[in-house]
Amino acid sequence: MTTRPRKPAPGTPAPGKLALPELAEMKARRQPIAMVTAYDTPSGRLADAAGADLILVGDSAAMTVLGHDSTVPATMGEMIILTRAVTRGARRPLVVADMPFGSFQVSDEEAMHNAVRFVKEAGADAVKLEGGGPMLTRVRTLVGGGVPVMGHLGLTPQSATMLGGFRAQGRTAEKAVRLLEDALALQAAGCFAIVLEAVPAPVATRITEALSIPTIGIGAGGGTDGQVLVWHDLLGLYEGHAPRFVKQYADLAKAIKTAVGTYVEEVRERRFPEQQHTYSMPEEELALFEEALQEVRERR
Ligand code: KIV
Repeated sequence: MTTRPRKPAPGTPAPGKLALPELAEMKARRQPIAMVTAYDTPSGRLADAAGADLILVGDSAAMTVLGHDSTVPATMGEMIILTRAVTRGARRPLVVADMPFGSFQVSDEEAMHNAVRFVKEAGADAVKLEGGGPMLTRVRTLVGGGVPVMGHLGLTPQSATMLGGFRAQGRTAEKAVRLLEDALALQAAGCFAIVLEAVPAPVATRITEALSIPTIGIGAGGGTDGQVLVWHDLLGLYEGHAPRFVKQYADLAKAIKTAVGTYVEEVRERRFPEQQHTYSMPEEELALFEEALQEVRERR
């Protein structure tokens, strides 16, 4: 008898999964690529159902779901748990795990070790890492080892302190040229796509034109091959200060507060649960129970 594996092995695309080379073909067809972050199974499932092509399990999780003030505290352990939850919910979109600060900066070997953890333990299809220059050998090592890598240039939140805060990058000709050179180098090193964050629109457009791999913009204008937004920003769930490039498509914080507030009120006023929320039992069983109860009372 032949047995077939129920689940594909890590590194083997699951049935129905968007094929990685399709992204470059989408760029060639000028078909915009939609990416969104997600951090748990329901958001992975909903992003899939909504038609997202790529899901990023961003280290923005440190701020959106773990309550930190920056992305820096995110750990490998946390990111593995969140990525695993997302891959349980998402089928078609490629799931990209964000390598947290400290997980890839030290050495190529450590970067490879942690990237492999994302693929094997969390079912990620690819990883993302921030920066160019010294990170090129990381990209070459990971891609050489069979892990697809998405680059991230411009405002790279893990090094916000060194960049002078959360501010737009590449706003002088010299810095814009450096960004273009970094993007070309990441492409040559083997990245399958690059996130451009908080970069002037004309600079992002020119970089996009110069690359054969897709660019995914966030605060980089409409000339990139795709866009990414953070789940909590898009849905109005993050109540901190939102950057100017965020477009909020819903006010779920308001909807949640109204719904939970109504529930709390109904509990306090004994209006919840109603008849339809409760279980019944046969009349005769209830009568027997009452009798038994009486006996228990008498024995005490
Ligand atoms: O962590 C994240 O969510 C990101 C996106 C903003 C690109 O890196």
